[in-house]
Amino acid sequence: MTPYYDHAGIVIYHCDCREILPHLPKVDCVITDPPYGVNLGNHLGAKDMRTGHVLRKGAYSVYEDTPENMAGMVIPAVSSALSRAKRGAVFCAGQYIGDFPRPDAVGGVFLPAACGRNKWGFASLAHCLLYGSAPNLHLGSKATALESTETAEVNGHPCPKPYGWMAWAVGLSSLEGETILDPFMGSGTTLVAAKNLGRKAIGIEICREYCDIAIRRLEQEVLPFGEGNQFQERQGDSQLSMFSTTQEVFNFDAA
Ligand SMILES: C[S@@+](CC[C@H](N)C(=O)[O-])C[C@H]1O[C@@H](n2cnc3c(N)ncnc32)[C@H](O)[C@@H]1O
Repeated sequence: MTPYYDHAGIVIYHCDCREILPHLPKVDCVITDPPYGVNLGNHLGAKDMRTGHVLRKGAYSVYEDTPENMAGMVIPAVSSALSRAKRGAVFCAGQYIGDFPRPDAVGGVFLPAACGRNKWGFASLAHCLLYGSAPNLHLGSKATALESTETAEVNGHPCPKPYGWMAWAVGLSSLEGETILDPFMGSGTTLVAAKNLGRKAIGIEICREYCDIAIRRLEQEVLPFGEGNQFQERQGDSQLSMFSTTQEVFNFDAA
């Protein structure tokens, strides 16, 4: 399959990731933020559990974020991607942890301001399932959780991840020069972080519009040396800038 974009070690495929995953070469690490299975979009009834109000008007252009599609597509595709890598860092909504392949550790991002509600109250953790082992453990342990109040940029995608989260995941789970695979690329935050931190990357996205957003972001100037590395060096210190994420309105209870 011909890449949609291929420049300076960053490759993007515009397709259903299930079509191409079996044909990709082995990679060092999968870092991905797949759909959450939370009925993203008011057409499907994403509601505040307490008030019943529709919380979010955004929706993916192509994909329907249903629990059925989690089971039938997302989980098998993540498993397939992980089978092609030495390591993985996979963000997921808490209620689906048991449906993903069993991780070797669970890390994630702690959001003091919360990122939604679930049946227990405010959801203050964005879980990140960790597979394999840290690439540089011999140099000392790093924190497997990040505290963050960073907001994601508004870029035309309904739920981009904050840049610092993906830079943290890249720094935690890969080494400079390695190749990262994101089969659910969205607007390309993983790829932008990979590029800024000196990694190669392959992104796959089913929606052409989001591929174009990712390319626009990649074509923007690279961060000055060292700026993105703060997430590698400072993952134990945490306190980043203050706010809430674009996921703050998600209802993490997919019922
Ligand atoms: C949670 S979003 C990723 C957001 C991304 N981390 C960012 O910062 O922009 C998940 C993405 O997976 C895409 N997607 C859904 N099914 C897919 C499939 N079968 N193959 C490739 N991409 C898919 C959706 O279109 C959506 O953009």
